[in-house]
Amino acid sequence: MKKLVTDLKVEGKTVLVRVDFNVPHKGSTITDDNRIHAAIPTIAELLKKNAKVVLLSHLGKVDWKKLKKGEKTQADIDAQMKKNDLSIVLPALKGYLDKALGKDVKVSFSKATHGDELKAAVAALKPGDVLVMQNTRYEAGEEKNDPALAKEWASLADAFVMDAFGSAHRAHASTYGIPSVLKEEGKETAVGFLMEKEIKGLGRCVEPKEDERPYVAILGGSKVSTKIEVIDSLLKKCDKILIGGGMTYTFKKALYGIDVANSLCEPDQFDYARKCFASGKIVLSVDTVLAKGLDFDNLDKKAEDIKLLDGNVDFPAGYEGADIGPKTRELYASIIASAKTIFWNGPMGIFENPDLQEGTKAVCKACAEATERGAFTVIGGGDSAAAAKQFGYTDKFSHVSTGGGASLELIQYDGHLPGIDVIEDK
Ligand code: 3PG
Repeated sequence: MKKLVTDLKVEGKTVLVRVDFNVPHKGSTITDDNRIHAAIPTIAELLKKNAKVVLLSHLGKVDWKKLKKGEKTQADIDAQMKKNDLSIVLPALKGYLDKALGKDVKVSFSKATHGDELKAAVAALKPGDVLVMQNTRYEAGEEKNDPALAKEWASLADAFVMDAFGSAHRAHASTYGIPSVLKEEGKETAVGFLMEKEIKGLGRCVEPKEDERPYVAILGGSKVSTKIEVIDSLLKKCDKILIGGGMTYTFKKALYGIDVANSLCEPDQFDYARKCFASGKIVLSVDTVLAKGLDFDNLDKKAEDIKLLDGNVDFPAGYEGADIGPKTRELYASIIASAKTIFWNGPMGIFENPDLQEGTKAVCKACAEATERGAFTVIGGGDSAAAAKQFGYTDKFSHVSTGGGASLELIQYDGHLPGIDVIEDK
């Protein structure tokens, strides 16, 4: 069992907290601040104990590797940095903290991500204050887990708390390097409340006991190739895997040889798709909602045409598979209805479009009913969590993870992630 934030003695101490504030945003407007909200209990706990809290997070991507390879220019990097300025989180963070603590919490921001300026900003903190450091990815050494960078950041802290579940699958300087250094120095490391909740919730999808079965996974997403490892692992753990989203059409073409017209399709995955299907655990759609002329830059825009196609027959030219049809919705709902553990990652269709969201809605509804009759239902972050929120189902699941990639990897690696394993046990 990992040491928890409540196990730390932090009165007057400086605590580095790795949070995942990698929030969706348009300019400085955050479109979903759930990840900020989810980090508040841990930060509030530390502030109540009069710690000085320094928050570290990445936001978006900064392609230092591509710059090195000459695939990006310094101007590209500057533009990415400007786009991913972490100071956009400050108003929401302060609002939530003031509310949680019932007082005016001092929240400041350090533009510097290394050097004397950062050191001075940390030194200026008083017990009960919060400092947010600019995006960790402004440093080229973050993703490389550069030892010098990890050491410099670790030198600012008396203790480290990992609460960035969404980034726990990354062995970066801020998620892995800092706690490694601090442990060597005999300083304390712990997980926060969000990490604890995620480890418990997703942990139930790693190896359900006999009385927690049938275990059904619902897997969407566009490409088989990006999900190979997770499909392999789920085939060993689950009783059934319901396939949705763009992946469907690679399976269909591989198995039935049908023409899938403009649908997503990966011919190099046909053999793998056939091998998976031979397990007898894969369930595919039996009817398909097709769309023609979708605008991929504006997914909510009406398609030129929508058609329903029954069975596994050739798709008409110019159309692509964009959602599961009504018979499949019923089939999937009936399988979900008999499950005791359910893990869902990836929408069934283009849920952003009002004409192509019935499949994803049906999965939400079936899972909500399953939760009500006592099943354990989990959403593995990302688009499915966004869809559940859009359709008003968030509270109807047993656990909604804040991490997409991290939740898949946690299940795949039987509960092990670099950002979890690096934290000391109790
Ligand atoms: C996420 O949003 O999945 C996490 O914040 C990790 O982000 P990354 O994929 O850019 O490392």
